[in-house]
Amino acid sequence: MKRGRFITLEGIEGVGKSSNLAFLHDTLKQRGVDVWVTREPGGTDLGEEIRALLLGHRHDGMAHDTELLLMFAARAEHLGREIRPRLASGQWVLCDRFTDATYAYQGGGRGIPGKRIAVLEEWVQGSLRPDMTILLDAPLDVAFGRVSQRGAAQDRFEKEKEDFFTKVRQCYLGRAAREPSRIRVVDAARSLSEVQSDLTRLMAGLVDEVR
Ligand SMILES: Nc1ncnc2c1ncn2[C@@H]1O[C@H](COP(=O)(O)OP(=O)(O)O)[C@@H](O)[C@H]1O
Ligand SMILES: [Mg+2]
Repeated sequence: MKRGRFITLEGIEGVGKSSNLAFLHDTLKQRGVDVWVTREPGGTDLGEEIRALLLGHRHDGMAHDTELLLMFAARAEHLGREIRPRLASGQWVLCDRFTDATYAYQGGGRGIPGKRIAVLEEWVQGSLRPDMTILLDAPLDVAFGRVSQRGAAQDRFEKEKEDFFTKVRQCYLGRAAREPSRIRVVDAARSLSEVQSDLTRLMAGLVDEVR
């Protein structure tokens, strides 16, 4: 049994991760791939409860280390109970955010040193990394314009200031520059159909690799 591929979708709020998740799912299904779609933080019952703690406003003053550790607690559950068994059985996993988001938000945004995040990454993931990470990238004003149109209440991260997201975006782009073969940057400021033609091409490449 061939191990499944692990694909993650990254980017600041409003770049189109959720909108493109279903599209990626359909694209892979059409090519005969069995794929499970999930998100972080979350993806398990316990993980979704941790997500509610992280994104809600009941704990607005949460310490940065608490935030980081909760992210990895949810991730340990997700990996142990869902992601690893599914990949081992040959299923593909498509995840809305993963550890690159931890580096970008808790590292770049909150200022936790990357070295400390790397300790937890090693502990929780061992050598497991996404096979491909799609970084949807757009300037802040474009992304924020879309978030305001979406109209939902702001979560604990969305209410951060522009400076926070500038650092998050820079961290994402820096990681992509250092790992260009894993992290593929897609210009998400363009129309949805232009973004999706890039995504189709990326998925076709991945499927061809394993056939
Ligand atoms: N390329 C695009 N062009 C125009 N609008 C888009 C594009 N991608 C997403 N949107 C819209 O922007 C909003 C935010 O997208 P969403 O997928 O929720 O972003 P994210 O999950 O990254 O926060 C949604 O209303 C969505 O329909
Ligand atoms: Mg989303």
